[in-house]
Amino acid sequence: MTWLLLFLAYAVALTLALSRAGHRSQSPTAAGADTARTPMQRLLVIGATGGTGRQLLRQALERGMTVTALVRDPVRLDMSHARLTVIKGDVLDPVAVETAMAGQQGVLCALGHKRFWYPTRILSTGTANILAAMTKHGVRRLVCETSLGIGDSAGRMGLYYTLFVIPLILPFYFWDKTRQERLIAGSDSDWTLVRPAALTNGDARGPCRHGTRIGHYLLTRRIPRADVAAFMLDQLDSGTYLHSAPGITAAA
Ligand SMILES: NC(=O)c1ccc[n+]([C@@H]2O[C@H](COP(=O)([O-])OP(=O)(O)OC[C@H]3O[C@@H](n4cnc5c(N)ncnc54)[C@H](OP(=O)(O)O)[C@@H]3O)[C@@H](O)[C@H]2O)c1
Repeated sequence: MTWLLLFLAYAVALTLALSRAGHRSQSPTAAGADTARTPMQRLLVIGATGGTGRQLLRQALERGMTVTALVRDPVRLDMSHARLTVIKGDVLDPVAVETAMAGQQGVLCALGHKRFWYPTRILSTGTANILAAMTKHGVRRLVCETSLGIGDSAGRMGLYYTLFVIPLILPFYFWDKTRQERLIAGSDSDWTLVRPAALTNGDARGPCRHGTRIGHYLLTRRIPRADVAAFMLDQLDSGTYLHSAPGITAAA
Protein backbone atom coordinates (compact mmCIF):
# COMPACT_ATOMS: atom_id res chain seq x y z
CA MET A 1 0.00 0.00 0.00
CA THR A 2 2.81 2.42 0.91
CA TRP A 3 4.56 1.62 -2.39
CA LEU A 4 1.37 2.26 -4.30
CA LEU A 5 0.90 5.63 -2.62
CA LEU A 6 4.52 6.55 -3.26
CA PHE A 7 4.14 5.59 -6.92
CA LEU A 8 0.96 7.64 -7.25
CA ALA A 9 2.73 10.62 -5.68
CA TYR A 10 5.58 10.17 -8.18
CA ALA A 11 3.14 9.96 -11.13
CA VAL A 12 1.32 13.10 -10.03
CA ALA A 13 4.60 14.96 -9.43
CA LEU A 14 5.86 13.93 -12.88
CA THR A 15 2.64 15.13 -14.52
CA LEU A 16 3.00 18.49 -12.78
CA ALA A 17 6.65 18.71 -13.82
CA LEU A 18 5.79 17.88 -17.45
CA SER A 19 3.09 20.50 -17.29
CA ARG A 20 5.50 23.19 -16.09
CA ALA A 21 8.46 22.15 -18.29
CA GLY A 22 6.62 21.82 -21.61
CA HIS A 23 5.35 24.64 -23.74
CA ARG A 24 2.20 26.43 -22.61
CA SER A 25 0.16 27.64 -25.56
CA GLN A 26 -0.92 31.14 -26.24
CA SER A 27 -4.33 31.31 -27.82
CA PRO A 28 -3.99 30.93 -31.58
CA THR A 29 -5.71 34.28 -31.98
CA ALA A 30 -3.12 36.01 -29.82
CA ALA A 31 -0.43 34.26 -31.84
CA GLY A 32 -1.75 35.73 -35.05
CA ALA A 33 -4.38 33.47 -36.57
CA ASP A 34 -4.91 32.76 -40.15
CA THR A 35 -2.37 34.74 -41.96
CA ALA A 36 -2.50 33.17 -45.40
CA ARG A 37 0.83 31.81 -46.58
CA THR A 38 2.31 31.21 -49.98
CA PRO A 39 1.75 27.52 -50.83
CA MET A 40 4.88 25.63 -49.95
CA GLN A 41 6.53 23.40 -52.53
CA ARG A 42 9.90 22.25 -51.16
CA LEU A 43 9.83 20.36 -47.92
CA LEU A 44 12.26 18.55 -45.62
CA VAL A 45 10.90 15.60 -43.63
CA ILE A 46 12.76 14.39 -40.53
CA GLY A 47 11.80 10.94 -39.23
CA ALA A 48 10.68 9.81 -42.68
CA THR A 49 11.23 6.09 -42.06
CA GLY A 50 8.87 6.16 -39.07
CA GLY A 51 5.14 5.63 -38.87
CA THR A 52 4.09 9.27 -39.17
CA GLY A 53 7.07 10.15 -41.37
CA ARG A 54 6.10 7.66 -44.08
CA GLN A 55 2.62 9.13 -44.15
CA LEU A 56 4.12 12.62 -44.41
CA LEU A 57 6.23 11.59 -47.39
CA ARG A 58 3.42 9.78 -49.18
CA GLN A 59 0.87 12.55 -48.66
CA ALA A 60 3.31 15.39 -49.48
CA LEU A 61 4.16 13.70 -52.76
CA GLU A 62 0.45 13.17 -53.48
CA ARG A 63 -0.03 16.92 -52.91
CA GLY A 64 2.57 17.60 -55.61
CA MET A 65 5.34 18.77 -53.29
CA THR A 66 9.06 18.23 -53.80
CA VAL A 67 10.31 16.37 -50.75
CA THR A 68 13.69 15.70 -49.17
CA ALA A 69 13.96 12.98 -46.53
CA LEU A 70 16.87 12.86 -44.10
CA VAL A 71 17.17 9.22 -43.05
CA ARG A 72 19.76 7.12 -41.28
CA ASP A 73 19.21 4.10 -43.52
CA PRO A 74 17.77 4.76 -47.00
CA VAL A 75 17.09 1.03 -47.48
CA ARG A 76 14.44 1.24 -44.78
CA LEU A 77 12.51 3.83 -46.74
CA ASP A 78 11.63 1.52 -49.69
CA MET A 79 9.99 4.42 -51.49
CA SER A 80 11.04 6.19 -54.66
CA HIS A 81 9.54 9.08 -56.59
CA ALA A 82 10.75 11.65 -59.13
CA ARG A 83 10.11 14.44 -56.59
CA LEU A 84 11.69 12.62 -53.63
CA THR A 85 15.34 13.13 -52.65
CA VAL A 86 16.73 10.87 -49.96
CA ILE A 87 19.75 12.07 -48.00
CA LYS A 88 21.53 9.62 -45.73
CA GLY A 89 22.37 11.16 -42.38
CA ASP A 90 21.68 11.42 -38.70
CA VAL A 91 19.71 14.30 -37.19
CA LEU A 92 22.37 14.39 -34.45
CA ASP A 93 24.94 15.35 -37.12
CA PRO A 94 24.64 19.13 -37.71
CA VAL A 95 26.39 18.90 -41.09
CA ALA A 96 23.94 16.28 -42.37
CA VAL A 97 20.98 18.41 -41.26
CA GLU A 98 22.44 21.51 -42.89
CA THR A 99 23.00 19.64 -46.15
CA ALA A 100 19.40 18.43 -46.17
CA MET A 101 18.07 21.89 -45.26
CA ALA A 102 19.58 23.72 -48.25
CA GLY A 103 16.89 24.98 -50.61
CA GLN A 104 13.89 23.99 -48.45
CA GLN A 105 10.84 26.15 -47.72
CA GLY A 106 9.60 24.25 -44.69
CA VAL A 107 10.34 21.37 -42.31
CA LEU A 108 8.11 18.64 -40.92
CA CYS A 109 9.60 16.77 -37.97
CA ALA A 110 8.25 13.39 -36.84
CA LEU A 111 11.37 12.38 -34.93
CA GLY A 112 11.04 9.59 -32.38
CA HIS A 113 12.95 6.62 -30.97
CA LYS A 114 12.65 3.65 -28.65
CA ARG A 115 15.51 4.33 -26.20
CA PHE A 116 13.08 4.78 -23.35
CA TRP A 117 15.01 3.31 -20.45
CA TYR A 118 17.70 5.90 -19.83
CA PRO A 119 18.00 9.68 -20.20
CA THR A 120 18.57 10.79 -23.78
CA ARG A 121 18.66 14.10 -25.63
CA ILE A 122 18.00 12.72 -29.10
CA LEU A 123 14.81 14.75 -29.61
CA SER A 124 16.18 18.00 -28.19
CA THR A 125 19.67 17.77 -29.73
CA GLY A 126 18.23 16.76 -33.10
CA THR A 127 15.78 19.66 -32.89
CA ALA A 128 18.54 22.11 -31.96
CA ASN A 129 20.38 21.00 -35.12
CA ILE A 130 17.21 21.48 -37.19
CA LEU A 131 16.67 25.00 -35.81
CA ALA A 132 20.32 25.96 -36.39
CA ALA A 133 20.18 24.69 -39.98
CA MET A 134 16.90 26.57 -40.54
CA THR A 135 18.51 29.79 -39.37
CA LYS A 136 21.56 29.21 -41.55
CA HIS A 137 19.46 28.58 -44.69
CA GLY A 138 16.71 31.12 -43.98
CA VAL A 139 13.99 28.45 -43.65
CA ARG A 140 11.19 29.73 -41.41
CA ARG A 141 8.37 27.17 -41.17
CA LEU A 142 8.65 24.20 -38.79
CA VAL A 143 5.82 21.85 -37.87
CA CYS A 144 6.94 19.35 -35.23
CA GLU A 145 5.08 16.34 -33.83
CA THR A 146 5.40 16.08 -30.04
CA SER A 147 2.62 14.58 -27.87
CA LEU A 148 -0.33 15.23 -25.66
CA GLY A 149 0.78 14.98 -22.04
CA ILE A 150 3.21 17.92 -22.08
CA GLY A 151 2.91 21.57 -21.08
CA ASP A 152 -0.70 22.71 -20.94
CA SER A 153 -1.79 19.30 -22.31
CA ALA A 154 -0.35 17.41 -19.29
CA GLY A 155 -2.75 14.68 -18.19
CA ARG A 156 -4.70 14.79 -21.45
CA MET A 157 -3.37 11.41 -22.66
CA GLY A 158 -5.83 9.80 -20.22
CA LEU A 159 -5.37 8.14 -16.86
CA TYR A 160 -3.72 4.98 -18.24
CA TYR A 161 -0.88 7.08 -19.72
CA THR A 162 -0.73 9.57 -16.83
CA LEU A 163 -0.50 6.93 -14.10
CA PHE A 164 1.16 4.03 -15.92
CA VAL A 165 2.75 4.50 -19.36
CA ILE A 166 4.43 7.89 -18.87
CA PRO A 167 5.73 7.38 -15.28
CA LEU A 168 6.87 3.78 -15.85
CA ILE A 169 8.01 3.65 -19.47
CA LEU A 170 8.37 7.16 -20.86
CA PRO A 171 9.59 9.57 -18.15
CA PHE A 172 13.00 10.24 -19.77
CA TYR A 173 11.50 10.35 -23.26
CA PHE A 174 8.78 12.81 -22.25
CA TRP A 175 11.30 14.93 -20.37
CA ASP A 176 13.34 15.26 -23.55
CA LYS A 177 10.13 16.17 -25.38
CA THR A 178 9.65 19.09 -22.96
CA ARG A 179 13.16 20.28 -23.87
CA GLN A 180 12.33 19.84 -27.56
CA GLU A 181 9.13 21.87 -27.20
CA ARG A 182 10.84 24.67 -25.30
CA LEU A 183 13.67 24.90 -27.83
CA ILE A 184 11.17 25.28 -30.65
CA ALA A 185 8.92 27.69 -28.77
CA GLY A 186 11.96 29.77 -27.84
CA SER A 187 13.15 30.00 -31.44
CA ASP A 188 12.31 32.79 -33.83
CA SER A 189 11.04 30.36 -36.46
CA ASP A 190 7.40 30.12 -37.61
CA TRP A 191 6.69 27.03 -35.56
CA THR A 192 3.72 24.85 -34.71
CA LEU A 193 3.91 21.99 -32.20
CA VAL A 194 1.42 19.24 -33.06
CA ARG A 195 0.46 17.11 -30.05
CA PRO A 196 -1.33 13.93 -31.09
CA ALA A 197 -3.23 11.50 -28.89
CA ALA A 198 -2.12 7.83 -28.94
CA LEU A 199 -1.14 6.92 -32.51
CA THR A 200 -2.55 4.06 -34.59
CA ASN A 201 -1.66 2.72 -38.02
CA GLY A 202 -5.29 2.62 -39.08
CA ASP A 203 -6.71 4.20 -42.21
CA ALA A 204 -7.25 7.93 -42.28
CA ARG A 205 -10.57 8.90 -40.72
CA GLY A 206 -10.75 12.39 -42.12
CA PRO A 207 -10.78 15.78 -40.45
CA CYS A 208 -9.65 15.45 -36.83
CA ARG A 209 -10.51 17.34 -33.66
CA HIS A 210 -7.84 19.88 -32.84
CA GLY A 211 -7.20 22.70 -30.41
CA THR A 212 -5.49 23.53 -27.17
CA ARG A 213 -8.12 21.76 -25.01
CA ILE A 214 -8.02 18.42 -26.83
CA GLY A 215 -7.58 15.00 -25.16
CA HIS A 216 -9.21 13.58 -22.07
CA TYR A 217 -8.02 13.31 -18.45
CA LEU A 218 -9.65 9.87 -17.96
CA LEU A 219 -9.87 8.21 -21.37
CA THR A 220 -7.05 7.71 -23.87
CA ARG A 221 -8.03 9.17 -27.22
CA ARG A 222 -6.45 7.88 -30.43
CA ILE A 223 -5.66 9.10 -33.91
CA PRO A 224 -4.32 7.39 -37.05
CA ARG A 225 -0.84 8.52 -38.10
CA ALA A 226 -2.32 9.21 -41.55
CA ASP A 227 -4.57 11.91 -40.03
CA VAL A 228 -1.69 13.41 -38.04
CA ALA A 229 0.33 13.68 -41.25
CA ALA A 230 -2.54 15.35 -43.11
CA PHE A 231 -2.97 17.85 -40.26
CA MET A 232 0.77 18.61 -40.18
CA LEU A 233 0.86 19.18 -43.94
CA ASP A 234 -2.19 21.45 -43.69
CA GLN A 235 -0.38 23.58 -41.10
CA LEU A 236 2.46 24.41 -43.50
CA ASP A 237 0.35 26.93 -45.37
CA SER A 238 -1.86 27.98 -42.47
CA GLY A 239 -1.29 30.54 -39.74
CA THR A 240 -4.09 29.21 -37.53
CA TYR A 241 -1.74 27.52 -35.08
CA LEU A 242 1.32 29.65 -35.68
CA HIS A 243 3.30 29.74 -32.39
CA SER A 244 0.83 27.39 -30.77
CA ALA A 245 0.61 23.73 -29.73
CA PRO A 246 -2.69 22.17 -30.75
CA GLY A 247 -3.63 18.71 -29.55
CA ILE A 248 -5.27 16.43 -32.12
CA THR A 249 -7.50 13.37 -31.81
CA ALA A 250 -9.61 11.42 -34.27
CA ALA A 251 -12.93 13.03 -35.07
CA ALA A 252 -15.13 10.41 -33.38
N1 LIG B 1 3.20 6.21 -30.30
C1 LIG B 1 2.28 7.03 -29.86
O1 LIG B 1 1.17 6.62 -29.47
C2 LIG B 1 2.55 8.51 -29.86
C3 LIG B 1 1.58 9.37 -29.35
C4 LIG B 1 1.80 10.75 -29.42
C5 LIG B 1 3.00 11.23 -29.95
N2 LIG B 1 3.94 10.36 -30.41
C6 LIG B 1 5.17 10.93 -30.98
O2 LIG B 1 5.03 11.11 -32.38
C7 LIG B 1 6.32 11.08 -32.99
C8 LIG B 1 6.30 10.12 -34.18
O3 LIG B 1 5.98 8.83 -33.72
P1 LIG B 1 5.95 7.59 -34.74
O4 LIG B 1 5.64 6.40 -33.89
O5 LIG B 1 5.11 7.89 -35.91
O6 LIG B 1 7.46 7.58 -35.22
P2 LIG B 1 8.51 6.36 -35.21
O7 LIG B 1 7.90 5.23 -35.98
O8 LIG B 1 9.00 6.10 -33.82
O9 LIG B 1 9.67 6.99 -36.11
C9 LIG B 1 10.64 7.84 -35.59
C10 LIG B 1 11.51 8.33 -36.72
O10 LIG B 1 12.59 9.09 -36.17
C11 LIG B 1 13.78 8.65 -36.82
N3 LIG B 1 15.00 8.86 -36.04
C12 LIG B 1 15.25 8.46 -34.76
N4 LIG B 1 16.49 8.83 -34.40
C13 LIG B 1 17.02 9.47 -35.47
C14 LIG B 1 18.26 10.08 -35.72
N5 LIG B 1 19.22 10.11 -34.78
N6 LIG B 1 18.47 10.66 -36.93
C15 LIG B 1 17.52 10.65 -37.88
N7 LIG B 1 16.30 10.08 -37.71
C16 LIG B 1 16.07 9.50 -36.52
C17 LIG B 1 13.58 7.18 -37.03
O11 LIG B 1 14.52 6.73 -37.97
P3 LIG B 1 15.11 5.21 -37.95
O12 LIG B 1 14.17 4.45 -38.87
O13 LIG B 1 16.47 5.37 -38.51
O14 LIG B 1 15.08 4.73 -36.54
C18 LIG B 1 12.15 7.20 -37.53
O15 LIG B 1 12.13 7.57 -38.90
C19 LIG B 1 7.31 10.67 -31.91
O16 LIG B 1 7.94 11.80 -31.39
C20 LIG B 1 6.40 10.05 -30.85
O17 LIG B 1 6.93 10.13 -29.56
C21 LIG B 1 3.74 9.02 -30.38
